[in-house]
Amino acid sequence: MMRLDKFLSVSGTASRKESAALLKKGRITLNGAPVLKGETKIDEERDEIKLDGVPIVYQKHRYIMLHKPQGYVSSTDDPSGPTVLELLPEKERRDLFPCGRLDKNTTGLLILTDDGKLAHRLLSPKHHATKEYYFTCQRKVTEQDVVDLENGVDIGGYITKPCKLTLFDDLSGSITLTEGKYHQIKLMFSARCNKILTLHRHAFGGIVLDPALKEGAWRPLTPEEVALLESHE
Ligand code: URA
Repeated sequence: MMRLDKFLSVSGTASRKESAALLKKGRITLNGAPVLKGETKIDEERDEIKLDGVPIVYQKHRYIMLHKPQGYVSSTDDPSGPTVLELLPEKERRDLFPCGRLDKNTTGLLILTDDGKLAHRLLSPKHHATKEYYFTCQRKVTEQDVVDLENGVDIGGYITKPCKLTLFDDLSGSITLTEGKYHQIKLMFSARCNKILTLHRHAFGGIVLDPALKEGAWRPLTPEEVALLESHE
């Protein structure tokens, strides 16, 4: 149960001030009848709340797709530089955190959410959520490098799990992992005496970065994209 004015605010329908005006005009209905008071208690899971006759969909959690630029830290709070949260207007940031980390100089798809359970599931190695990155590197990647990187290399006492690597040319390609150790791809390439120059995450858990999103831009995930994330049992 929650107050109707809180519901209107968390569903993104209206601020508390705007809600008061909508309610006063009788534009909000609760199970068919207009309600005038913001403090009215509602059951957000069961009651039908409409604005001008259009149902307001209750979303328990928020899920944002962000195109991370270079120079931003994947955390909610970091004294060493701007965080990815700062790319969102302040009123949108409430309770959000990045689902996993990209290095400061890595670009691409980052999901922000306030759903701790789903984030935990997606990041757990048990669930094998795939992460696809595009890379460029300093030295030619040989056929033997591809075989070794795909089978697993030692990144300092840890042998990486099998992965998929596709070359676009001698110095660039895509790599798809099902795990996410700290600096994993950079360490994998340095294990093959090579160096990653640029890294960009193209896809995560079946979700592909929306090409319409420029660096620094964001949008809510569509219901289909949320369903995809939730399908990672
Ligand atoms: N691997 C890395 O080395 N860096 C990233 O940001 C992501 C994967």
